[in-house]
Amino acid sequence: MSQDERLNHIKTKADLSNEEIELLRNTGALKFNTINGMVENAIGIFPLPIGIATNFVINSKEYLIPMAIEEPSVIAAASNAAKIASKGGGFIAHADDSIMIGQVQLIPTVTTTASRSSSLMTTNTNHNSSNKSEIDNITNLIYNNRNKIISLANTKSNFAKCIDIKIKHVIDESINNLGQMIIVEILVDTKDAMGANVVNTMCEAIAPEIESLTSGKVILKILSNYATERLVRCKAIFPRDLIGGEDILKRILFAYAMAYTDVHRAVTHNKGIMNGMDSVATATGQDFRAIEAGCHAYACRDGHYRALTKWYQDSNGDLVGEIEVPMAVGTVGGITNSHPVVKTCLKLMNVSNAKELATIIAASGLAQNFSAIRALSDEGIQKGHMKLHSKNIAIIAGATEEKIELVSRKMVEEKNVSVSRAREILETLNKTSNHC
Ligand code: MEV
Repeated sequence: MSQDERLNHIKTKADLSNEEIELLRNTGALKFNTINGMVENAIGIFPLPIGIATNFVINSKEYLIPMAIEEPSVIAAASNAAKIASKGGGFIAHADDSIMIGQVQLIPTVTTTASRSSSLMTTNTNHNSSNKSEIDNITNLIYNNRNKIISLANTKSNFAKCIDIKIKHVIDESINNLGQMIIVEILVDTKDAMGANVVNTMCEAIAPEIESLTSGKVILKILSNYATERLVRCKAIFPRDLIGGEDILKRILFAYAMAYTDVHRAVTHNKGIMNGMDSVATATGQDFRAIEAGCHAYACRDGHYRALTKWYQDSNGDLVGEIEVPMAVGTVGGITNSHPVVKTCLKLMNVSNAKELATIIAASGLAQNFSAIRALSDEGIQKGHMKLHSKNIAIIAGATEEKIELVSRKMVEEKNVSVSRAREILETLNKTSNHC
């Protein structure tokens, strides 16, 4: 269907008004053909605000950081944290090379006396009972043909490079009790690309070779979003005197202790970090779901879900924050070449490669976390949040143009930020302006 046909179809089905259809038809800075090439059954775009986080100095370079997010306070909080961090020397960050992991799941063919069948899962018990020596044989076969497999993978890309192979041996402990399997992992340097497509292509390319070498059966062939070989680390010093002194600093350490030890707090602590990281990831066209999934798994790497940041006091008495997370992002490929807003955001940051982008995203997460726990340790977040949210409330109440600011300011002064109060203030303003 064309865009018109799709819109007409949903208009009839859902009884939408002409105004509603026009809202959905809007494609903003994008051409319909572009969005139609990105997703199926496209009808329009979903707009989000983009704001600019300021004051960021990362590895001695100043950045203006675009953040696409609907939540008030996030951009102000990041900018404020970055200002304080800049007085402590700015953010110091380092990203690993862009090594992604691809997984090929190999099921050994069952050759036990219980069932000498050459096909998969044909034993009476539905249990793949390969023994240790069979698994060892297969492992050796793959390692002995390591170079051949790597070369085969490398025929599939002119920029990414498969550099190594690792093998894992796992046993299904789910309710299906399927027994033993081998996971062949390829390590691929995807350079400035996030790398999902190239890694998936490589995994699919080597699968037949792995099957023929081992007489096993390959099932899954897919990239892992747990990018543990592609970590980014970022650190910043927040001078004690600029954050409110020793008492606040100690309170922040208590906030961190709670997020380290208690999972219910850890999730919210990490959600604040993702406010910063996801909004930059969205503005720069990254797969933020992949980043989220990887970060949350990393938060559980010792078996307990914990804070993704660390906070401590250094020998000068200042507060130090650190973050370490997997960060699979790209400055080429995906929608970085086709989405005009994404292209402009990358240009705005003057970012030259994927590793640099990873450092910016990590710094945004750390900054966001600082501001959240700084506010929570002191006056709470609602005061600042409601102040910024008041403009939103004014708009919901029907304020437009300069009346948004007037209504919002009055509600904040009165410490009563609500839609009903906004409507009353607006009514008074409208009466006054009609009168004039
Ligand atoms: C709100 O979006 C994020 C916070 O809840 C994060 C936190 O509690 O650390 C403020």
